[in-house]
Amino acid sequence: MKGVILAGGTGSRLWPLTRLMNKHLLPVGKYPMVCYGIDRLRRGGITDILLVISKQSAGLYTDFLGSGAAFGVSLTYKIQEAAGGIAEALDLAEGFIFPGERFVVLLGDNLFMDDLTPYVESYLRQPEGTAKVLLKPVDDARRYGVPVFDSQDSAWIAYIEEKPEHPKTKFCVTGIYMYDEAVFDIIRQVSPSKRGELEITDVNNIYAANRRLSYDVLKNWWSDAGTFQSLREAGEKLKDALP
Ligand code: DAU
Repeated sequence: MKGVILAGGTGSRLWPLTRLMNKHLLPVGKYPMVCYGIDRLRRGGITDILLVISKQSAGLYTDFLGSGAAFGVSLTYKIQEAAGGIAEALDLAEGFIFPGERFVVLLGDNLFMDDLTPYVESYLRQPEGTAKVLLKPVDDARRYGVPVFDSQDSAWIAYIEEKPEHPKTKFCVTGIYMYDEAVFDIIRQVSPSKRGELEITDVNNIYAANRRLSYDVLKNWWSDAGTFQSLREAGEKLKDALP
């Protein structure tokens, strides 16, 4: 199993701080944000990790993380030239993932406390060509991708609505996804959205339409640290999470 952390994007909700450096390098507790995803993967036994970063701050990433050895992992870096969407960033992992391999994708601003191991194990039992997403109940689902479950077999997601005005469930699709190499063919079927991005929700909806998107629900604290308030809260929550 390999890991991919997507840490490109513009971080526009955290301007002007993100004019200084990429969002995933901003401090959360004692470490830059990106370190927490690396730690979660490592604790889940995943040490071969691709980091997709933006051109901005590329040198800061390598200065801080280097080869990954000091963090107990092996890091490969790829540059996303412009923020063309989460699925575009994911597409850069083709070549890093070999035929027959499965992998976990983390959005770099998603911070969480669950151990990934049981979710990975359950994904490894799924048939080839299927995917899994992790969900979390949230107070205001309108800010996220929101799953609607298959009415005949609730083990599968029927479809996901991205930032719906009237969410049909209380769950958010977190930025924790599991795929095999079939995902790269699926990304090629997706066109840019109205905002000009390749959307991960469009990719996941192709799986869902074929009853190929399963889910688990995170048991512990989760947050996306993409706003000043959530960044502050995450810093407090995770202040002693890493040595
Ligand atoms: O946090 C969970 C949510 O993340 C999901 O519920 C949504 O379905 C999903 O679309 C996403 O929504 P956001 O609006 O929060 O995505 P955002 O554009 O903030 O990007 C999240 C992360 O993805 C960010 O930390 C870096 C990475 N990213 C994003 C873009 C647009 C890239 O690496 N490259 C990109 O071009």
